[in-house]
Amino acid sequence: MSDPEAGAVTRAQEAEDASPAVADRSAHLRGAENAVLRSDELFAGYVPGVNILNGCDLYVGEGELIGIIGPNGAGKSTLLKSMFGLVEVRTGSVTLKGENITNLKAHALVERGVGYVPQTNNVFPSLSIEENLEMGAYHAPKKFKERFEFVAELFPALKERRKQRAGSLSGGERQMVAMARALMTEPSVLLLDEPSAGLSPKLQDQVFIRAQQINRAGVTVVMVEQNARRCLQICDRGYVLDQGRNAYTASGRDLINDPKVIELYLGTLARA
Ligand SMILES: Nc1ncnc2c1ncn2[C@@H]1O[C@H](COP(=O)(O)OP(=O)(O)O)[C@@H](O)[C@H]1O
Ligand SMILES: [Mg+2]
Repeated sequence: MSDPEAGAVTRAQEAEDASPAVADRSAHLRGAENAVLRSDELFAGYVPGVNILNGCDLYVGEGELIGIIGPNGAGKSTLLKSMFGLVEVRTGSVTLKGENITNLKAHALVERGVGYVPQTNNVFPSLSIEENLEMGAYHAPKKFKERFEFVAELFPALKERRKQRAGSLSGGERQMVAMARALMTEPSVLLLDEPSAGLSPKLQDQVFIRAQQINRAGVTVVMVEQNARRCLQICDRGYVLDQGRNAYTASGRDLINDPKVIELYLGTLARA
């Protein structure tokens, strides 16, 4: 007898079968020991009684660039938001350099060196590039000049066009402004939510190159990406998130070559 549910073995179930390390947290606990930022068994959501994150473990070590991939709706943005104080953590903890920062508000996190670039609406369109960057440095206006020079080195085009209104820029340029603005706060850890979304392949490439440059300039980077293949190519480690849980975590190279990950999450992209 055919059971319509049979084909719908959930990805999470398959992932669980293939990844006993998820239930066994020892690898996470070992890796996270000296992490700059870590989340442990995070449960979070928007509607009372409905969890979107179902026990997320994640850590990023000093100087690492890590990638988070996974299907639409997996909870990737929610994970970043819950680490940045924008979605309430119900249980579990977020720790920054040994300090418990669970549910601290965004401004308190900025003061502690966490930067965040949201997936959408991440620039002030009516303000100039320069004014956008000033907004980024609002908490330390005296540092504006120094930070502007740092950011201008990474994004020379922004310096040349500093008087241009952000709303008149292309999607790719806006993404650069958004990243530059977050860097104005002098973060030691930068959370990027799908910076390449909606961009042409060429501009997507630019975004990945910038993310790498930012990382090499000494900023620890946590990057959520829909371009999973490209993300795994550049990250030190990747996390695959599915239904609010870590399904897999390994080096970017291992994930990109893992048949299960290819089948479930990279699909045709991986074979292209
Ligand atoms: N503001 C919100 N209110 C209620 N539900 C939300 C909200 N934002 C996201 N969700 C739900 O949370 C789930 C995960 O969303 P999200 O974290 O944005 O996924 P991803 O970034 O992996 O695509 C989805 O089912 C989505 O509908
Ligand atoms: Mg998202």
